Amino acid sequence: MSTYTDFVTRHAPIIEQTICTFLKKETIGEDLYDSMNYSVKAGGKKFRPLLFLATLSLVGYPITNEEYKVASSLEMIHTYSLIHDDLPAMDDDDLRRGKPTNHKQFGEAMAILAGDGLLTESFHLLSSAKIEATKLVKLVEILSSSAGTKGMIAGQVEDIEAEEQSVSLAELQLIHEKKTGALIKSAVEMACVLASVSPIIESELMTYATSVGIAFQIRDDLLDVIGDEDVIGKHVGSDEKLNKSTYVSLLGLEEAKEAFYTQCDIAKEALRRTKIELGIDNTQTLLDEILKELKEI
Ligand code: IPE
Ligand code: IPE
Ligand code: MG
Ligand code: MG
Ligand code: MG
Repeated sequence: MSTYTDFVTRHAPIIEQTICTFLKKETIGEDLYDSMNYSVKAGGKKFRPLLFLATLSLVGYPITNEEYKVASSLEMIHTYSLIHDDLPAMDDDDLRRGKPTNHKQFGEAMAILAGDGLLTESFHLLSSAKIEATKLVKLVEILSSSAGTKGMIAGQVEDIEAEEQSVSLAELQLIHEKKTGALIKSAVEMACVLASVSPIIESELMTYATSVGIAFQIRDDLLDVIGDEDVIGKHVGSDEKLNKSTYVSLLGLEEAKEAFYTQCDIAKEALRRTKIELGIDNTQTLLDEILKELKEI
């Protein structure tokens, strides 16, 4: 078993449990809880919280209950964004994580409210973490601005507005950086702040995270065309149906793959420099393994 597979097996269930226990305690209304719980437990990859924890591990910061709360807050925001992304008014999808989408299972009103619940309770959970106050406020600031109206939400707006439109590659990269990259970057930035890493390490890790964020969405665009529904747990061809602007629609399959590998290479280089800075240049780290897994399409 690879170290990363081991890492996922160890931490992913705890993240899920942290979220569900908190929601159970903080939610009035069985239907609302069931709807949130359904999406949290549907089997997502937990990429963002694991990236946060893997970054902490890289710099030797211990993972306790408090770090799980921070990690879980990232996954709650992500899960809310998917519930809303699937709504009929947005991407109108009926399959997510291999299951009927939240609104197909619970109705649109409950899906909207489940998303609202996960978003709001994400900050509730984060603020309950026993972390030094100045750092905690900084974490709240990073998470809210990355998920907010110049980050993920702005990207989602631009994604919808770019349907049926022709956008340039530069514009599309900016959309991807916001709608998907911002939250992924915040996972790494939050780890850097919590662990008080040096400015140079933070800067290299942010280069890594920026490219991983763009690569993650290009990969998602590629899998929407060449993916296997049973593996990705979503219908393929969803982007084409909506005339979305994607790397594949703009560049074609082969060039989109090249753009994807280019971003992975930039990330790898930044990680190599980070490891030199940390004095562990010959060590295979979890962040190397995350990149390796990402590259397998
Ligand atoms: C899907 O995210 C939406 C994008 C931002 C590309 P993930 O691929 O992380 O979805 P889950 O969490 O594993 O279901
Ligand atoms: C979603 O992008 C980005 C989010 C912020 C949710 P997509 O719309 O391509 O994600 P999928 O393919 O539905 O998972
Ligand atoms: Mg979308
Ligand atoms: Mg979608
Ligand atoms: Mg997609």
